[in-house]
Amino acid sequence: MSATGAKPIGAVDEASAAQAVHRMFDSIAPRYDLLNHVLSFNVDRLWWRRAARRFRAVLAQPDAAVLDVCCGTGDMTMALLRHRPHGARPLLAADFARGMLTRGARKFAGHAVTVLEADALHLPLRDASLDLIVTAFGFRNLANYEAGLREFHRALKPGGELGILEFSEPGGLLGQAYAVYFRRVLPAIGRIVCGPVPGSGFGPYNYLPESVGDFPPPPRMLDLLRSTGFTKCAWQPYTFGIAGLYTAARAQR
Ligand SMILES: C[S@@+](CC[C@H](N)C(=O)[O-])C[C@H]1O[C@@H](n2cnc3c(N)ncnc32)[C@H](O)[C@@H]1O
Repeated sequence: MSATGAKPIGAVDEASAAQAVHRMFDSIAPRYDLLNHVLSFNVDRLWWRRAARRFRAVLAQPDAAVLDVCCGTGDMTMALLRHRPHGARPLLAADFARGMLTRGARKFAGHAVTVLEADALHLPLRDASLDLIVTAFGFRNLANYEAGLREFHRALKPGGELGILEFSEPGGLLGQAYAVYFRRVLPAIGRIVCGPVPGSGFGPYNYLPESVGDFPPPPRMLDLLRSTGFTKCAWQPYTFGIAGLYTAARAQR
């Protein structure tokens, strides 16, 4: 199994890790939006909007080819749409869990969005075809982070931009207080509302803090981005570092 990729309980290799993640999101899809907003006290909306604003220059270009990958139920896509001019090229919204994607597709009705049921590690897109890739709270779930970054790099045009919005673990006293909420309170509420993932015995909100704890911290993620060939790599913490936005660009030729 990769040293840097999601490791849900019971997964023994990258294929079984991806399967477990896929199954988990399909099973929680009906309650995903409600739980997310309640458990984050609606701060998630601010994070999606702030991340989208960071890319408003490229989003304002009508011909820009933009992908929201691991789009889930589509809230990041909706935030990106706010910056698209009338008549702009449709945004691409991709996810491999059909249960999540179909809920997203309902939100996209009447908007310029093309939905793709696709694996982030094998995007059905040509090399150097995208101006912007954004992913919100999805990257951490990939079975192999280096492979994910390589795939994003492949699909971006030279000069194309990448944004990865992810949770992180803040330090200090606030971090300790937050850890109690994130590691104890949140899984308990999640278990009551969602129940265990069928066939796994574990609750999705146990997986969340574990996966955030295992995720490379910002300095390591920035190294991964640079070693994949990205330039202009940076991390902007959001809300005391509970979440943050990684930004990078594919080098110009
Ligand atoms: C935590 S949800 C985030 C959804 C949405 N972006 C948001 O901000 O609410 C993570 C999503 O990533 C998707 N995902 C995880 N691994 C994936 C992969 N390899 N390919 C495509 N989608 C993936 C899951 O199906 C899920 O919908």
